[in-house]
Amino acid sequence: MTGQPIPVIIDCDTGVDDALALLFAVRHPGLDLRAVTCVAGNTDVDGVVRNTLTVLEQAGAPDIPVGRGAERPLLEPARPAEHVHGADGMGDLGLPAPARTASELDAVALLRREILASPRPVTLIPTAPLTNIALLLRTHPEVTRNIERIVFMGGAVATGNATPVAEFNVWHDPEAAAILLTAGVPITMYGLDVFMRVVMEAPDVHRLRASRDPGTRLAGELLAHRPTAVGEEPEAEEAGGLGDAGAVCAVADPDGITTRLLPVEVCLAPGAARGQTIVDRRPRHGESEIHGGRREQALVDVALDVDVARYLKLYLDTVERP
Ligand code: BDR
Ligand code: CA
Repeated sequence: MTGQPIPVIIDCDTGVDDALALLFAVRHPGLDLRAVTCVAGNTDVDGVVRNTLTVLEQAGAPDIPVGRGAERPLLEPARPAEHVHGADGMGDLGLPAPARTASELDAVALLRREILASPRPVTLIPTAPLTNIALLLRTHPEVTRNIERIVFMGGAVATGNATPVAEFNVWHDPEAAAILLTAGVPITMYGLDVFMRVVMEAPDVHRLRASRDPGTRLAGELLAHRPTAVGEEPEAEEAGGLGDAGAVCAVADPDGITTRLLPVEVCLAPGAARGQTIVDRRPRHGESEIHGGRREQALVDVALDVDVARYLKLYLDTVERP
């Protein structure tokens, strides 16, 4: 690594894989994690704050400020994913309550303060519904002058997870995601297409779980967590997806993903496609545009491919650092 660490802020809904992202960000020497902000998503926002503080404590992180953010999306009710992330939102691992407490500033105020105070432009990494980011952009648009870029986990080129076509983070607050896309700063979309592919093999998970270091061991426990869908037996395998942590890998090591600058639009209409990210991969205009249809979607750097082995090695090398 050369040069100074990249100042980053993670906006998360911790969340099993958000926790994996935090553990990586805290330990990567090329990243300077300046704040973490919390939003309702995988669980309620107070649960997200508690989980985030616990992870930072277990990781032995310095005193990084944590801001509590939106309790619910801009228009929709909160629709948590506890069937995936456990009743406590972080795998029900029985971790002790954190001794740390959240900042007195709420998430939007903390984001504003840290972005504007940073000596170098900040990279924002949302790994959650985009509610806090939309509120920030609407309340304090001046922050964009000190944002280098936004690398968000969300959306999908192909298949969704919350619905057949919509990814959870965008589906949970589609209006907020649409606001993000028009932020006027460079945006990278680390969507489900790459998110689903970075899966650690069982022997590595097993080794992490056996570590004497609490942060490393926690990474192993989180990777071994399996959601139990109604009527399904949990999988025996210990292999586990990096999930949101892949988006942080994409900041630390951007050459590990292949991106293309493409028009992206969020479907806001009610119905089956609500929350879908419509990614225009056509090589040229179609009949719609020829006959006067609009083509004004935001241009986003969309991750289309990922070097899986490279990110798995990067993750292990970072989280197993002494
Ligand atoms: C996203 O939704 C959450 O369950 C994960 O933490 C990730 O951010 C994947 O759709
Ligand atoms: Ca998340």
